[in-house]
Amino acid sequence: MTTILERTVDSTTPSPLHTVSRIVLIGFMGAGKSTIGRMLAERLRWEFLDTDSCVEGRHSCTVAELFASHGEATFRRSESLELARALGKHQVVIAVGGGAPENLTNRLLLEQTPETAVIFLQASFPVLFDRCVLQGGATIRPVLLDAVAAEQRYLARLPLYRRCAQHCLDTADLLPEEAAMRVQEMLASQS
Ligand code: S3P
Repeated sequence: MTTILERTVDSTTPSPLHTVSRIVLIGFMGAGKSTIGRMLAERLRWEFLDTDSCVEGRHSCTVAELFASHGEATFRRSESLELARALGKHQVVIAVGGGAPENLTNRLLLEQTPETAVIFLQASFPVLFDRCVLQGGATIRPVLLDAVAAEQRYLARLPLYRRCAQHCLDTADLLPEEAAMRVQEMLASQS
C-alpha cells in the first residue's frame, strides 16, 4: 500500500495514467465508492460504472428487491458477472458493492486483470454505519438489517479489502471531491 502524496494535480487536465486503464474502488458500504468514483471518472474523462446499478439494470429492480425476491446468492452471482463485464472495458472507473471482494473469483478478477488499479476507500464502522443510515439504511442496503451482523461483515472484510488493493485512502474526513483528487494524485504519482 502507498501513502498519499500531497501533490496538486491540475483539475482541468486528465492525469497521464500510462499504466492504468481501469480503476476499481472497493470498501464497505458508505465508503463513498459511487460518489467518489463518478467524480474521479469525470476528472479523468473516463467511463463510470457501478456494479450495483448494472445488477439493477439487468434485473429491472433494486438491489433490495432482488435480495428480497431471489436472495443474496442470486445477487452475488449477478454482481460477479457485472464485475467481469466491467473489467473488460478500458478507461473505466468501477465502483463495486461492499461485499464483492468476499468472493474468491472476484478477488482473482481484480488481481489478474491487467492495467487495473484497486483502491480501498476506508473509514471506521461507526462512520460508515452513520453515513448509510443517513442514506436510507436497510431499505436500500439489506445487509444493514442487523447492525451487529453488519459490523461482523465489516471486520471480516477488512483484510480482504487490504489484500486486494494497491492503494488505500481514508475517507472519514474527506469531501468526495477531495477524495477523488487524492485517488487521481496517487495513481498519477505511480505512472
Ligand atoms: C453490499 C453492499 C451494497 C450492495 C448490496 C450488498 C454488501 O453496495 O452491493 O446491498 O454486502 O456490502 P454498496 O457498498 O455500494 O452500498
